[in-house]
Amino acid sequence: MIRVLVLNGPNLNMLGKRPKEHYGSLTLNQINELMKKEAGDKLELEFYQSNYEGDLVTKIQESLNYDAIIINPAAYTHTSVAIHDALEMFTGIKIEVHLSKVDNREDFRRINFVRDVCDVCFSGEFEGSYVNAIKYLKNHK
Ligand code: DQA
Repeated sequence: MIRVLVLNGPNLNMLGKRPKEHYGSLTLNQINELMKKEAGDKLELEFYQSNYEGDLVTKIQESLNYDAIIINPAAYTHTSVAIHDALEMFTGIKIEVHLSKVDNREDFRRINFVRDVCDVCFSGEFEGSYVNAIKYLKNHK
């Protein structure tokens, strides 16, 4: 079984209440269910969300033996050297995910501390970005 950690950063627990033009209308639980459906019995998914940078770092450290990480670091994408450094240690497949078209929004969102330590990025397709990350893993594992 391929073990996958699905990590979500700050404010993603509030999906459904955030601006729909950027983030779509589904809740995080609904997105997780879509991912499980796409994963079928090929991937074992563990879901973790936190609003705290250190929690996300600790979770990555505790998961170094997993096969893959799918991460939406949310606002920490643009600020976190600590998440960059934790991901750098992880030797499995690393997938960056964003609901919005993060590279085409405000200038401060173009600063990205995780892109260079991830293998691939899916963004701009709302919940479809997460589903595409699962499809990618099914084809590459
Ligand atoms: C986000 C984009 C980030 O810039 C933002 O801070 C988020 C969500 C996205 O999924 O589009 O919270 O990562």
